[in-house]
Amino acid sequence: MIEDMLRTPSAVRDAERYTAHNYHPLPVVISSAEGAWLTDVDGRRYLDCLAGYSALNFGHRHPALIRAAHEQLDRLTLTSRAFIHDQFADFCRELAALCGKDLVLPMNTGAEAVETGIKVARKWGYQVKRVAPGQANIIVADGNFHGRTTTIVSFSTDADARADFGPYTPGFTVVPYGDLAALEAAIDENTVAVLLEPIQGEQGVVLPPEGYLPGVRRACTDRNVLFIADEIQSGLGRTGRTFACDHEGVVPDMYLLGKALGGGIVPVSAVAADADVLGVLRPGQHGSTFGGNPLACAVATEVVRLLATGEFQRRSAELGERLRAGLEGLLGSGLVAVRVRGLWAGVDIDPALMTGRQACERLMDRGVLAKDTHGSTIRLAPPLVITSDEIDHAVAQLAAVLAG
Ligand SMILES: Cc1ncc(COP(=O)(O)O)c(C=O)c1O
Repeated sequence: MIEDMLRTPSAVRDAERYTAHNYHPLPVVISSAEGAWLTDVDGRRYLDCLAGYSALNFGHRHPALIRAAHEQLDRLTLTSRAFIHDQFADFCRELAALCGKDLVLPMNTGAEAVETGIKVARKWGYQVKRVAPGQANIIVADGNFHGRTTTIVSFSTDADARADFGPYTPGFTVVPYGDLAALEAAIDENTVAVLLEPIQGEQGVVLPPEGYLPGVRRACTDRNVLFIADEIQSGLGRTGRTFACDHEGVVPDMYLLGKALGGGIVPVSAVAADADVLGVLRPGQHGSTFGGNPLACAVATEVVRLLATGEFQRRSAELGERLRAGLEGLLGSGLVAVRVRGLWAGVDIDPALMTGRQACERLMDRGVLAKDTHGSTIRLAPPLVITSDEIDHAVAQLAAVLAG
């Protein structure tokens, strides 16, 4: 009876009816949010343990970000890059400083940042490294996730992401993730870049063995190859440091950034690199109508300022230890593996118990939203504004789900 009065079922039906089925969302329809909490169309509240795949590192509707967006909406939203606007320089300067790089190239989505990185690396390869025309090659890792464009899925090793989207873009070599010897062996005179996630998020928060990233850095420097770190999901405070590479003191030649850079308000991505790399691009060779627009810059500048305080990195590092302790306590009680860095966790559920999807549905029924990946893995990535009590709450709900 009461079920008949709920708005969720018909809202789910309508959403499914008029869209391509390229996602399999949980049957929950969100209508508002604040901080780490979401409210659905029937007034039920959920603790957000996905944070828009880390696009909401600062929580929903962070006051400083909302203020920046409102103020900018009332002044200027778009010029295109044909003209310069007054939010552009601050954003580029402050993001470049956060990255320790000379220059920034703003785009919109993560995939566009990856495409930009690939184009810049190839151009650098031909113009600076002097690779033979048409021969530039980029080394990537298996299990990668860098986005959904036709070029990016060309070097995906996930059959769902890749199958039937060919013909595929050539110029990529896939090596096992975490295997430094294999990567070194794959480098030849045509290699212009190594493109890696310092932690593989979509793969289930997979950390490479210690020493791997410094080894990749060394190999790239020794062989005159660019190291491109895709920090689109791992960067900007998620792991307890500004960048996941920071944990091992590694500085890549190019950072690819996205997701949290837009504060959960607008899509903002960027490539950050030194002038000897990004400087290879000339007018007319790359661009985007919306890339670096005034609204995006206003919000993203505020994001960079929040990160410059260090507060979010600290929270993530400290609270991440609490999350780790809670999740590791469930090993043997339904979890078979736990991987944590900062407020980012991948947990593997005993496949004999339930699938990751079933676990997420049961968590949803208990007021916690998370997302499964690759069968029996769940990724937990709450907004960095989550409190320790809320972390305990999420872990307790997971424990209850696993206990059946
Ligand atoms: C590491 C990484 N790179 C790139 C992307 C693509 O970003 P977008 O979905 O904004 O194109 C993602 C998205 O999940 C990602 O996790």
